[in-house]
Amino acid sequence: MFENFFSFILFSFLIFQFSFTKESLRFKTDKTFQIMQLTDLHYGYSFAQNMQTDQAQKVYFKTEGKDTDFGDLICEGFQDPLIAWQKAVYFTNFYQKNYAVTFGNHDFIDYYSRRKFIDLDIKNEYSYSQKGPENIHGVSNYYLEVLGSDSDETKLILYFFDTGDKTCEGIPGWGCVFHNQIEWYKNISNYLKEKNNRTIPALAFFHIPLPEYLDVWNNNICYGIKEEIIACWPKNTGLYQTFLEQGDVYGVFVGHDHVNDFIGNYNGIYLAYGRKSGFGYYEPQPLHPQGTRIIKVQENSREIESWIRNKNGIKEIQKIHYPDEKDTQNYCSGVKFS
Ligand SMILES: *[C@@H]1O[C@H](CO)[C@@H](O)[C@H](O)[C@H]1NC(C)=O
Ligand SMILES: *[C@@H]1O[C@H](CO)[C@@H](O)[C@H](O)[C@H]1NC(C)=O
Repeated sequence: MFENFFSFILFSFLIFQFSFTKESLRFKTDKTFQIMQLTDLHYGYSFAQNMQTDQAQKVYFKTEGKDTDFGDLICEGFQDPLIAWQKAVYFTNFYQKNYAVTFGNHDFIDYYSRRKFIDLDIKNEYSYSQKGPENIHGVSNYYLEVLGSDSDETKLILYFFDTGDKTCEGIPGWGCVFHNQIEWYKNISNYLKEKNNRTIPALAFFHIPLPEYLDVWNNNICYGIKEEIIACWPKNTGLYQTFLEQGDVYGVFVGHDHVNDFIGNYNGIYLAYGRKSGFGYYEPQPLHPQGTRIIKVQENSREIESWIRNKNGIKEIQKIHYPDEKDTQNYCSGVKFS
């Protein structure tokens, strides 16, 4: 049964491949570029929940799909990876939306490694995912360039990092971006600066939040909720600091925590969660139902307009949160950060 299903999928990809050449990503003529962030779809827990996630995705694409240029599927929860992956990309295909994937902690299963997964994904007609260099940690490490609305100049870079699953450079806890990935990013960032003679604004996408998410919640004004522990890296490998030094990344988008969805500007870089997009595993509270974070950026600007569209089709304006000494967290994966 599994094998039959597999050959069917391979066959449909062959057809796509022959009839398709990828166009460059580009700002629209109104000089905006809109991204729909889907995270924690968690397909594969039960048939009923898969149906609910399908229904939610339909709402996201019907309400926001028209203006969306790009979907960032931070997929995880692949209980049966092949079928779950197919369900996750079904809607991007159906609505003919380009997308890219970066892996979460669940997207790994013995008989289907991450590398094979990305091989499968990059053959899909609408996928812009890439397989990262083999000599660094993880698989979904790559970048994409978005061109100007009326020029072939690169106006925005999208970086994707693979935060793995468990353990950060040997420290127990959640996964993280390793030093060799940071070196890779720095090299690309410098290369792009040199090639373009300027610093190009960039956004970064990965699954597991970095420790600076604590600072956003503890000490800054932000928008949205924190209703569970921030499950961040047990070691600060310096990615945020490197973003600051390179000066290109001005927005970071993660998933992972199903009932945290805040966004705040921390020293010039927006640090944001998406909203859990699918059903399965533990769920958001009824007041903050499944949804998608929409990220709208302007050409030649570092402002971000962002909102949540929930599964009921409602555009949520996230509530402001002021620092509150009675509601702080200063540890990640059990490791204390000052
Ligand atoms: C740095 O990036 C450039 C451009 O992608 C690549 O050609 C080069 O091999 C990279 N160098 C290292 C040391 O990774
Ligand atoms: C960058 O500057 C160099 C030297 O001035 C020039 O040759 C090159 O065309 C410039 N590149 C871009 C993308 O403007």
